Amino acid sequence: MNILILGGGGREHALAWAVLQNPKCDRLIVAPGNAGINMIAECATLDLSDGGAIAGFCEAEAVDFVIIGPEAPLVAGVADRLREGGLLVFGPGAEAARLEASKSFAKTICDAAGAPTAAYAHFTDHESARAHVAAQGAPIVIKADGLAAGKGVVVAETVDQALAALDDMFGGSFGTAGAEVVIEERMTGEEASFFVLCDGETALPIGTAQDHKRAGEGDTGPNTGGMGAFSPAPVMTDQVTEAAMNEIVHPVLAEMTRRGTPYQGVLFVGLMIENGKPRLIEFNVRFGDPECQALMMRLGGQVLDLMQAVAEGRLDQMSVNWAEDHAMSVVMATRGYPGAYEKGSVIAGLETCPEDSFHQVFHAGTAMRDGRYVVDGGRVLAITARGASLREAADRAYAMVDRIDWPEGFCRRDIGWRAL
Ligand code: AMP
Ligand code: GLY
Repeated sequence: MNILILGGGGREHALAWAVLQNPKCDRLIVAPGNAGINMIAECATLDLSDGGAIAGFCEAEAVDFVIIGPEAPLVAGVADRLREGGLLVFGPGAEAARLEASKSFAKTICDAAGAPTAAYAHFTDHESARAHVAAQGAPIVIKADGLAAGKGVVVAETVDQALAALDDMFGGSFGTAGAEVVIEERMTGEEASFFVLCDGETALPIGTAQDHKRAGEGDTGPNTGGMGAFSPAPVMTDQVTEAAMNEIVHPVLAEMTRRGTPYQGVLFVGLMIENGKPRLIEFNVRFGDPECQALMMRLGGQVLDLMQAVAEGRLDQMSVNWAEDHAMSVVMATRGYPGAYEKGSVIAGLETCPEDSFHQVFHAGTAMRDGRYVVDGGRVLAITARGASLREAADRAYAMVDRIDWPEGFCRRDIGWRAL
């Protein structure tokens, strides 16, 4: 089978690594990929928003199966365009991808499905939004409705912070994403990421993880795309998982099917759990990054069979065989991230890291220059390890971090602290 993966981050490196473990994979192309992915697969340059161009590439290269990593091409309808051309595709069409692309759409679906989530109101004009904040008081959560690269959410402790967030969003800081806002009740509890494969009919949970969104230790500092993750998430007990499936996942998928837009792909269910009860924070229509890196270490090559079964609508025949262990992914980022940072610094020592089914360095923002790895993004590496315990996974991951010689990089030293 010839496979094309769209994307070029740590998530796609982990997907590529897992797919290559499966003997069904004859040829693997990743677009655009990165310097680490280029060591294990072919990389190609493609416009990820241009479904027609991608379809043409697939025909020319005899691609059998396309796996779409990031949300942008999904939201742009690339999966629809490729399916129209008869290709096998992993990932939802544009209409189903609105579960991530529009927070008010996700809320509407939750209402229709009776899925527990924070109370909310939806606004398209600044004045009514301000009046709502004044009436509700703080704490309160302000969200840009559209895609905002993880930066469109403000958990405001005071009314002034909430009003400032509204000024920002209606003032255009998030472009069209902020032209509409959702204002929510602030939920409390512990967060977890829950991943469920869906083929439009069957839903199959494939793992849980916890991310660390803040840049600083002890969960302080600015929000990032994610500084580290571990799997499984202890808060996702069997009872909580069952409640999340019965109260959120199944009803929401049924509602999508009822509307004529069945969901096909991986549903990333962001949950807040309090007193054993899960409530939805948000949906994403893709794997999390870096959650995916930890998950792939535990799933390995079977993930290709699972994704293929999703695309072919025969997930009911599948089951998941877990490594009953723990995985951790520690993100190394460029100093300055998530603010301004410089590209081009040299990363040395990568060749001294072990590379086996317990240890992998997944690349996110790297490029190769004169035979050396250099920085090409904010989040640069996802150092990932498995162990019999979370402690062992963490020790292995940090032992690799310590082998990397890159003065311009930093990481959080406390990934997993809540569980450890
Ligand atoms: P999102 O982009 O929707 O995942 O939001 C980013 C982060 O904001 C989440 O991971 C939560 O930590 C926080 N958050 C979002 N919505 C709420 C809410 N209603 N109550 C409390 N925290 C929230
Ligand atoms: N790590 C969170 C995300 O991928 O959205």
